[in-house]
Amino acid sequence: MPSLTESTGWSIEVVPGLIPVEDFFRLLAQRKFSASTWVRKMDQLDYLEEPDMFHDVFGHTPLLAEPKFAQFMKDFGDLGVEFIDDEEVVIQLQRLYWFTIEFGLIYENGRKVYGAGICSSFGETTHSLSENVEVVSFDLERVINTEFKTDVVQTLYFELESFDQLFEEFKLFRDTIREKVA
Ligand SMILES: [Fe+2]
Repeated sequence: MPSLTESTGWSIEVVPGLIPVEDFFRLLAQRKFSASTWVRKMDQLDYLEEPDMFHDVFGHTPLLAEPKFAQFMKDFGDLGVEFIDDEEVVIQLQRLYWFTIEFGLIYENGRKVYGAGICSSFGETTHSLSENVEVVSFDLERVINTEFKTDVVQTLYFELESFDQLFEEFKLFRDTIREKVA
């Protein structure tokens, strides 16, 4: 089985914990995913406010081995670097990241989880697939205008029809914000 680097050019960059957003975008643009080295305790299996190594590696790296998703993550980092001084765009990118890469659902022969924040929590996986949450069809305009909370289990999730939908909508978003500043 090829390594992550051999399959898509991505690698893991060890970081001490949460890092400034500009550093995070810059690493993504270099195809480096930042991962911490501490691991949660048993009583934190279901929920963490700050990502640990299990979240970063188990949650994020599987999709980084998928070529189209890996390219989307690199493009996402590039856009973050490009617009790092535009506070509004940075907030929109953080919301897009949150509701897809961290907490996204997808419909493929039934509802499935793909967001790393869900996948790395057994409790959130069952919660997000339960009747107790609101799931809406992915709509980029709505996503970038929806605030999120990092200190509670999510109550609202966005569901993709396919990853291609995410990649296409991301390109349209990129074109739109570039046109605005042109
Ligand atoms: Fe994460």
